[in-house]
Amino acid sequence: VNEPLFGTRVKPIDAAPGRLRLLDQRRLPREETWIDCDSAEATAEAIRSLAVRGAPLIGVAAAWGLAVEAGRLAGAGGRSGAAAETLDAAWESSADRLAEARPTAVNLRFGVERMRAVFRASAGAPTAERVALLEAEAWSFEAEDREACATMGRHGAAWIASCLGGDPTAPLRVLTHCNAGALATAGIGTALGVVRALSAGRPVAVFADETRPFWQGARLTAWELAKDGIDVTILPDVAAASVIASGRVSVAVVGADRIAANGDVANKVGTYGVALACRAHGVPFVVAAPRTTLDPACPSGRDIPIEWRDGAEVLLLDPSGDSRLSVAPPGVPALYPAFDVTPAALVDAIVTEAGVSTAPHAEGLARLLALP
Ligand code: MRU
Repeated sequence: VNEPLFGTRVKPIDAAPGRLRLLDQRRLPREETWIDCDSAEATAEAIRSLAVRGAPLIGVAAAWGLAVEAGRLAGAGGRSGAAAETLDAAWESSADRLAEARPTAVNLRFGVERMRAVFRASAGAPTAERVALLEAEAWSFEAEDREACATMGRHGAAWIASCLGGDPTAPLRVLTHCNAGALATAGIGTALGVVRALSAGRPVAVFADETRPFWQGARLTAWELAKDGIDVTILPDVAAASVIASGRVSVAVVGADRIAANGDVANKVGTYGVALACRAHGVPFVVAAPRTTLDPACPSGRDIPIEWRDGAEVLLLDPSGDSRLSVAPPGVPALYPAFDVTPAALVDAIVTEAGVSTAPHAEGLARLLALP
């Protein structure tokens, strides 16, 4: 049962024509409950509230949410006899609102714009046909993400093995931050896809940064790795630097929410500190992300919008759960920039499904984006 897999038992999305169900990640690891999203607004709310999260997954969820929305509007319009232009305008404004549900992960916008292109290209076609086209596009988008994760896993595992050298079957200790796993994608994950690919060939032990305040590492990364039988130990975020300094970490592998054209990487807040500690102690720092996370329209990390969430989430012991227990004295505020930017110079490799970029990343990423 505990055999390492180059696959996963974890699947956070269950979508098919006319149906979108999302695993409510706020409830993990306590319980596995699902949310039925019957509209774009319900999907946007699931994204805003972090019921569904992780850059690639929110793009896929949004794509399905817009297919479901087209079916909903078609049903409502058919009953009221609304004109096609009215339906088009309603769908377009749902798409705009969905794209704005969260600002940093560019995959969300990518998913929405891909659906918009199909919607516009099918203008004038019978409504049922347009709904079917949108459903087909959401299927393909989801399948492409699943495939990208598997390919990224292979590329990342090969790059790490050759970077570290030595016995390719020797045990490895991988540090990761946040959750860039199956729970953040439609497949085996980005960073954790690389971990799963590595663990198919050698013993791998993972240090999962707990990732305050939403605990994506302690709740989600630990849950999904344990479910797949991969060795995982939770590390307080504040211990990452000293554990890296102690020589206990072979490589750090993280995901990304947006990567600028120059290779600067926006990821969950705390990632920058991990990268600094890795560079200071000669530990390779690897980012794994599909090409839907690359944003050539952002020249550098300064251009990436960083989401600031409510400081109240920092003050609660468990902002994802029912407990309203605060860790701070009443009236003292907190700041919560949810992401930070790691400069390209600290990133040893950016692994995508099209291959691996090494410094200088501006050229490396341009080359990967130009590939078919
Ligand atoms: O706020 P979240 O949980 O949606 O944050 C996104 C992430 O999970 C990470 O930053 C991750 O590394 C990128 S998504 C694979």
